[in-house]
Amino acid sequence: MNQDRILITGASGQLGTVLTKKLQEKYGVINVIASDLRLDSNFKGIFETLDATDFDAIQEIVSKYKITQIYHLAAILSANGEKYPLNTWDINMKTFFNVLEISRLNAINRVFFPSSIAVFGDNIDRIDTAQYSNLTPSTVYGMSKVTGENWSKYYFEKYGLDIRSIRYPGVIGYQSLPGGGTTDYAVDIFIKAIKNENYECFLNSSTTLPMIYMDDVIRATIELMEAPKEAITVRTSYNLAGMSFDPAQLTKAIQKIYPDFKVSYNPDFRQKIADSWPMSIDDSYARKDWNWKPKFDIDAMTRDMVKNLKIKFSDKSMSC
Ligand code: SER
Repeated sequence: MNQDRILITGASGQLGTVLTKKLQEKYGVINVIASDLRLDSNFKGIFETLDATDFDAIQEIVSKYKITQIYHLAAILSANGEKYPLNTWDINMKTFFNVLEISRLNAINRVFFPSSIAVFGDNIDRIDTAQYSNLTPSTVYGMSKVTGENWSKYYFEKYGLDIRSIRYPGVIGYQSLPGGGTTDYAVDIFIKAIKNENYECFLNSSTTLPMIYMDDVIRATIELMEAPKEAITVRTSYNLAGMSFDPAQLTKAIQKIYPDFKVSYNPDFRQKIADSWPMSIDDSYARKDWNWKPKFDIDAMTRDMVKNLKIKFSDKSMSC
């Protein structure tokens, strides 16, 4: 079998930064091509500046490196997306259609498309939200993900494109900062705690949301991408669960390490988005099809975040 060569779009983002490193370890640095609008200053490896709305620019990279797999992470997230709805739709869909078409035309053998808990909205059971629930999202970001899921299934059924997808919960990690999401508070809060500052949360204290630790989400992504094709029964996007908690519970977990840490609450427009999302996720299809099992609960995640952020902050300051 020929060596896979992977293109990652959105490689400088919260998830892309970490996923790129993991894929470099697995596939070799020369076989992973990271791309984004901007280069992360700490990046090591092969990087191409890429605006993924530009079809020809993606095609050029795919030809130049003989790409066989694409992880398409570039997107505008839920909260930022609401500031410029039409622009968000244009960017999220244009980049995705470019990736779909280029994958079809170049016989790319595997594609990853991240979806999100943002696909859910009205008329769902918000506890243990089922795989096949109503998909009536409250944000443009969520609408772009629902549409993307359906197009993924269409390209699989019509063209045999092996595209796989996960509905990511809020992702928490120390390596990189999220940008413009509704679940970002769960990273911001740690940065304040480490700096011995108080935190003002933009969601109210009892807003329970599905979250996942970075180690788990990277492992889930790679496990899904490496699963045998026959095992994949969901061709839209898999529900995935890590843990669920609200800001008050996360504050308590942090206070086990920083007893004086204080959080105040000042909900903004993101509260309404969060209220439309599930509180917890039923991920039985992922568990059954590719043996998914998370390792981190809220306390294990909190200990690991604090330990690693302390190291990071003693090294150099992380911008936020
Ligand atoms: N973390 C994302 C957001 O808040 C959800 O996919 O937008």
